[in-house]
Amino acid sequence: MMSLNDVLRAKRLIETYLPVTPSWSYPLLDEVAGRSVVVKHENAQPTGAFKVRGALNLLAGHPRGEPVVTYSTGNHARSVAYAARVFGIPAHIVMPAGAAGFKVRAVRALGATVTLHGADMADAEAYAATLGGRLISPGDEPAVIAGAGTAYLELFERHPDLDTVVVPVGSGTGAAAACVVAAAVAPGCRVVGVQSAAAPAAHDSWRAGACVRRDNRTRVDGLATGRGFEVPQALLRDLLAEFVLVDDDAIDGARRVLSGAAHTQAEGAGAAALAAVLARPELMGERVAVVLSGGNATEAELSR
Ligand SMILES: Cc1ncc(COP(=O)(O)O)c(C=O)c1O
Repeated sequence: MMSLNDVLRAKRLIETYLPVTPSWSYPLLDEVAGRSVVVKHENAQPTGAFKVRGALNLLAGHPRGEPVVTYSTGNHARSVAYAARVFGIPAHIVMPAGAAGFKVRAVRALGATVTLHGADMADAEAYAATLGGRLISPGDEPAVIAGAGTAYLELFERHPDLDTVVVPVGSGTGAAAACVVAAAVAPGCRVVGVQSAAAPAAHDSWRAGACVRRDNRTRVDGLATGRGFEVPQALLRDLLAEFVLVDDDAIDGARRVLSGAAHTQAEGAGAAALAAVLARPELMGERVAVVLSGGNATEAELSR
């Protein structure tokens, strides 16, 4: 399905296009969290989120000039648009009608065609499937997971002694990738997933051992999914140590902490890992890494 070898191959490709992102600590943040916290700065990517790794890895293997189609609330869309531009591939992206204005503009600025359709991801998915072209799933793509895994090769290379790495989960590609890489290169490190309690489909799928659908009421883009995805869930089932739910207000609180104690901007999904560390310290070890998976805060998040 997806192994460390796939991640190593992805690394060779991705390092041509993207620099290693920083991962370091902030004494004030350590003080607030009561332990050593390494922040992996995926908000430093050119698209503002880790998703660009997976999109580059997937589209590098796609025939030039042949169209791709996908659906997304924001960062997946932006990453596909970015990689499509790199490789000269026409991209058509369906975003829910309520998608944040600047996220839509950012995708269009990368040259992709954007259609706003439906109330949520499920509507956008159904419409995207009617458009023709290679339909890219936001979750069930082994090449996307392998690309995401390159973030964890970077993290463990720099911080080999971590006890826990906490990863935000929407479809689960990032967390599944973290699990595969940790199992191979840092077997002493537990991977903990975190999702919004207002959209617990991946969490509940993991606990149930089968993909389930759940209401999706979170205001946190990136964690806003209503169903489990088979490919990442199969990996999480075997390898994930723990899965935590936090509420949306706690995620806003963690965004404020990152802004004040680390002078860095997180969108909600990007702050969810820290929210889990603050909410459930008993589940974390002494040396924890949080994946600041994205910094593309919406206008509403910024004003809150
Ligand atoms: C910033 C950010 N963090 C986390 C996630 C969740 O990633 P995944 O869907 O791979 O679980 C997303 C998904 O779009 C995201 O944009």
